[in-house]
Amino acid sequence: MTWAATILTLYPEMFPGPLGHSLAGRALGEGIWSIDPVQIRDFATDKHRSVDDTPAGGGAGMVMRADVLGRAIDDVLARRPDAPLLAMTPRGEPLTQNLVRGLAEGPGVSILCGRFEGFDERLFEARPILPVSIGDYVLSGGEMGALTLLDACIRLLPGVMGAPLSGEEESFEGGLLEYPHYTRPLEWEGRRIPEVLRSGDHAKIAAWRKARAIEDTRLRRPDLIERHGDVRRRSPSGAQ
Ligand code: ADE
Repeated sequence: MTWAATILTLYPEMFPGPLGHSLAGRALGEGIWSIDPVQIRDFATDKHRSVDDTPAGGGAGMVMRADVLGRAIDDVLARRPDAPLLAMTPRGEPLTQNLVRGLAEGPGVSILCGRFEGFDERLFEARPILPVSIGDYVLSGGEMGALTLLDACIRLLPGVMGAPLSGEEESFEGGLLEYPHYTRPLEWEGRRIPEVLRSGDHAKIAAWRKARAIEDTRLRRPDLIERHGDVRRRSPSGAQ
């Protein structure tokens, strides 16, 4: 079955964009996934086809209208009732590998891309929408966020990656950043590949990688260590 993405956007020409290339592009050509960009403006009813208006209470920018988006959303929900509906917004739940895995295991996803200051909040009360953020910074629109989310999902679909890494190895899958990588040449600008990686002792290599994963995570992402508890006391299954 094809993993199907429906994108509600004011810029349908931005899709598949970079996802038409490399791994995702090949998988798109093979029918492993599909994309259906939908123009939000097609659901406007006035002669200017307006999709936004000034914010209630005043302030800068424009807000995407609930009536126009409501119609667009209802059209997508009727056509794709099985797919979860997400809205890209910096006010959303952080995108994590956990969420990505769940979405990749499902039938696909519908994504609402905002522009301007954001969506009329009543949409989130009236429709089953999961707001999602790709990070603590503000983009000019949700399209790049949607592309990022799709890329993270597509690489997990069966048949997309040649030899998928085991769950424990990949960044975030074991709750840690991945260990560092090296390849030939053995020596570059006076720096050698760590000797342990050339030892052929698989148990020693695994122990070194685990230690480096923990060390680098402590240094770069102490928040991950806090969230997942003391990783040194975990059994290999990930149980505490
Ligand atoms: N739209 C604007 N900023 C965003 C962000 N950080 N994540 C998702 N969508 C956005």
